[in-house]
Amino acid sequence: MKDESPYVHLNEKELLEIIDSQNLPGHIAIIMDGNGRWAQNRGLPRSLGHQAGVESLKDIIKLCCDLKIKVLTVYGFSTENWKRPPEEVNSIMKLVVDYLSNEIKELCQKGVRVNPIGGLGGLPEKVRETLSMAVRQSRDNSGLIFNVALNYGGRQELTDAVCAIASSVAAGLLNVGQINTWTVSNHLYTAGQPDPDLIIRSSGVSRISNFLLWQSAYSEICITDVLWPDFKRRHLLQALADYQQRERRYGGLKLN
Ligand code: FPP
Repeated sequence: MKDESPYVHLNEKELLEIIDSQNLPGHIAIIMDGNGRWAQNRGLPRSLGHQAGVESLKDIIKLCCDLKIKVLTVYGFSTENWKRPPEEVNSIMKLVVDYLSNEIKELCQKGVRVNPIGGLGGLPEKVRETLSMAVRQSRDNSGLIFNVALNYGGRQELTDAVCAIASSVAAGLLNVGQINTWTVSNHLYTAGQPDPDLIIRSSGVSRISNFLLWQSAYSEICITDVLWPDFKRRHLLQALADYQQRERRYGGLKLN
């Protein structure tokens, strides 16, 4: 969804009319980029950009529930984000805690199952406790699976999978000859879930930044110039309209 996309001028109602509800992505993944620049543009501290970003996230979760999307993955904090100043790291951690504590009831009402992914053991205790609470309270829900990627890195995820597979081989539970792509997929944090059909990155940046490296093999990628705090329902609908124009070939030839 470049900003020259034919859909950028359509409103929510017009977009809903053209979107084919039978051809929606099963799994949407989002790199919520641009919070810092959004704040900077307004002379505000970066933490307020992240806070505004949470409001966009709430909107997008609601829309995903309305559209009956099966899986939504958001990149909340990467393994590289620890390099940021401690105040910023702390503000993001606090937002995660506040967001889940305040919203878990509504998320459960909407049938959302919260599923944190990443190096969860490396997160502050308060965050781990809040994540456990959210997982426990939402575990029986059968609607949207909400993967919250925290202390997440695609390379770390693959490294963890390699270690787990190697341990199974060393323990005699698995033969090397039995290892295939399914084995690897099944050892990722997203085991059992479909790969993302659509990955959206806000703020005009065109890179994958260590996000879902294995799972993104055949994802459609949509880059929008909109900064994450400005990304609302209409922008997701634009991305979906754009996605539906893509021809997915998975390395094969055009179907029909
Ligand atoms: C990237 O924008 C954003 C992040 C690193 C943090 C995203 C976190 C949130 C939206 C809030 C908490 C998350 C959850 C799951 C409740 P940036 O800061 O790199 O933006 P910039 O490139 O403009 O500096």
